[in-house]
Amino acid sequence: MTQPFLARTRADLAQALSAPTGGEVAAVLTMGALHDGHIALMRAARRRVGANGRVVVTIFVNPLQFAPQEDLSRYPKSFDSDMDTCRREDVDVVFAPSVDEIYPDGEIVVSVDPGALGEILEGAARPGHFTGVLTVVLKLLNLTCADVTLFGEKDFQQLVLVRQMVRDLDLPVEVVGVPIARADDGVALSSRNAYLSDGERSAAKAIPTALALAADMASTSVGAEAIRAAAFEYLTAESGLSVEYVEITDPELRPFVGPGPARLVVAVRAGHTRLLDNARIDITSAGSWPSGGDR
Ligand code: PAF
Repeated sequence: MTQPFLARTRADLAQALSAPTGGEVAAVLTMGALHDGHIALMRAARRRVGANGRVVVTIFVNPLQFAPQEDLSRYPKSFDSDMDTCRREDVDVVFAPSVDEIYPDGEIVVSVDPGALGEILEGAARPGHFTGVLTVVLKLLNLTCADVTLFGEKDFQQLVLVRQMVRDLDLPVEVVGVPIARADDGVALSSRNAYLSDGERSAAKAIPTALALAADMASTSVGAEAIRAAAFEYLTAESGLSVEYVEITDPELRPFVGPGPARLVVAVRAGHTRLLDNARIDITSAGSWPSGGDR
């Protein structure tokens, strides 16, 4: 275990990456408050690049992806323990810049347009969010000179959009999706879980149960519409949760036409905290969702 090099500026980062090692650079982009889900990304990164490669973790709470009414200052911060985690996980470089370092001119003029996929699901609930995400992801991938980057499947729409950006803009980086890390009771790990009261945390257990129910139904002759309705009703019945959406899509978040692999994506609110989750389900029956094929 060695202390990772801590780069606060782009110049520090460039210097840390300047010595050739003969290996690849794997970038794990985070907003800090690191948990086992991030650790799974760091381990996948190390497995991918091996001992000669470098694992770079970025810690940056990106104001561009928060709307004015979303409380950016409330985002959980735990820098010292994040550094300990990176040391334990043999991370080579931590890039933890200030906002001015990333946006030296204040407001940026050019940003990444996520297109129509950026306007549904999370994008509908949080207008402008994915412009902010993709813009900072592009900047961080450039600054870290990443050959490969690893994203968790929990923020599934983010992963799909990053892949799309890499394809459409010909970025020389490989995007690897890493399965969702879950607590023992099945709840997906998220930095936002820190906001939950005991009651809200307990109500959140209904989310993985609803996903499991949908996966079981998918292997029967029941179609996408009925599966979605069952998951929706199950979550609605949990009084501690307020359901924002439950959708069935194809694996790229387009309208689903069955039978075949699908994604069940869920957003609920527990108190003031939005919780996201999703699962791949394999629907054996024909039928589409939405029923007309249009979202
Ligand atoms: O998933 C996150 O933590 C953030 O959206 C990311 C990718 C680090 C961009 O700020």
